Amino acid sequence: MLKHDYMDINSEGHLVIGGCDTTHLAEEYSTPLYVFDEDRIRDNMRLYRDSVDKFYDGKGRILYASKAFSTKYMYKIAKEENLGVDVVSGGELYTAISAGFDTEKIVFHGNNKSYDEIKMAIDSGVGRIVVDGEGEIEKIDSISREKNVTTNILIRVKPGVDAHTHEFISTGHIDCKFGFSIENGEAKDFLKKAKEFKNVCIKGFHCHIGSQIFLLDPFRHTAKIMMEFYKMARDEFSLELGELNLGGGFGIKYVEGDTPLNYPDYIEAVSEVVKGYCKDNNMEVPFIYMEPGRSIVGDAGTTLYTVGTIKDIKNVRKYVSIDGGIGDNPRYILYDAEYDAIIANRANEDATETVTICGKCCESGDIIIKDCHLPKADSGDILAVMSTGAYNYSMASNYNRIPRPCAIMVSKGKAKVIIKRETYEDLIRNDMV
Ligand code: LLP
Repeated sequence: MLKHDYMDINSEGHLVIGGCDTTHLAEEYSTPLYVFDEDRIRDNMRLYRDSVDKFYDGKGRILYASKAFSTKYMYKIAKEENLGVDVVSGGELYTAISAGFDTEKIVFHGNNKSYDEIKMAIDSGVGRIVVDGEGEIEKIDSISREKNVTTNILIRVKPGVDAHTHEFISTGHIDCKFGFSIENGEAKDFLKKAKEFKNVCIKGFHCHIGSQIFLLDPFRHTAKIMMEFYKMARDEFSLELGELNLGGGFGIKYVEGDTPLNYPDYIEAVSEVVKGYCKDNNMEVPFIYMEPGRSIVGDAGTTLYTVGTIKDIKNVRKYVSIDGGIGDNPRYILYDAEYDAIIANRANEDATETVTICGKCCESGDIIIKDCHLPKADSGDILAVMSTGAYNYSMASNYNRIPRPCAIMVSKGKAKVIIKRETYEDLIRNDMV
């Protein structure tokens, strides 16, 4: 039964997050409920931001990869903590702009950006567009020409590194829809074409090798390959570059067996490689970007559910149903993702049985945790599932027409609603006839 160190248990044996008794939160805001610890998010952001100062002399910027959890308040926090953000769609960009985020500090990704999305990015003045395909650069160039501006871009490349993570969240290898491969010469060929566009300025390169990675070596290896490519571009194409974006992907603790590194270790590792390479080759160090998403918000989020029906199928499995499911957390069904939980109203009790936590959707795969060790759960208990801050709300759906839950931020004993619970009325809002 995992409980993060920043959480407490009070004298009543209730789980406390951000100074708030979770059983009171469940009562006041109802369940399912996403609870985010604001101080934890800010601490994670500061850890990253400060390590760029420490290990890379401040010549870089941390971009919060907002796909992990995109909502206006997250952009406000990122702004206050002096981070940039990465967005991957018109919707994320719109949310960031609505939150008053400085568009110069936004990097816009995506492997199939529409004309309208590119136009929106250029019109709003995003800092960098990461070009991911041939047709895209033509659109960027022509929109920029019409507006009489030059658009700063990074080119996404695939360094060909095995990130040792789940196939569906691995993105650095050749057989992947993102970017141009270095291995087969595609990236170099594209660079040759890209530099001919007059209203586009190539600032450097971007890569992202995958997600939930616990090793430093794939990042070191990637940094070296990227520096070699960067040097080649300078030497062979006389390009005045200056930037390298090395993506995100740093792993977090979902279950006891997970062994995340300290986040500054990643920054230190890539800084050493990049600085060392520049020293050996007598080059100026590029400005670097890193794009953590999960590791900023993942362990700061907890989902509270109410336990309902319990079915003990003799000699087979005991199912403990909760009032949410794949609609608010589809990660087990998608990636076999593991989670851990505790009973929030009896947080001091030891585990006595192994059960499967399932949701309320019409789908046998609607599982949140397979083989979860818990004290004997009763109907009405509040179950707190740990580390649900990233890729839960942002991947939530209305499957079975179940409204998406409310999300709250807690800090120093106070809670505020950052996303309200959907209503049945919300569900039929776009039904036309
Ligand atoms: N930068 C780029 C270009 C990315 O594609 C991603 C994640 C990140 C940064 C942030 O990676 P992070 O630090 O969060 O690992 N839905 C999956 C994760 C997909 C990640 C997609 N890209 C999941 O639930 O595990």
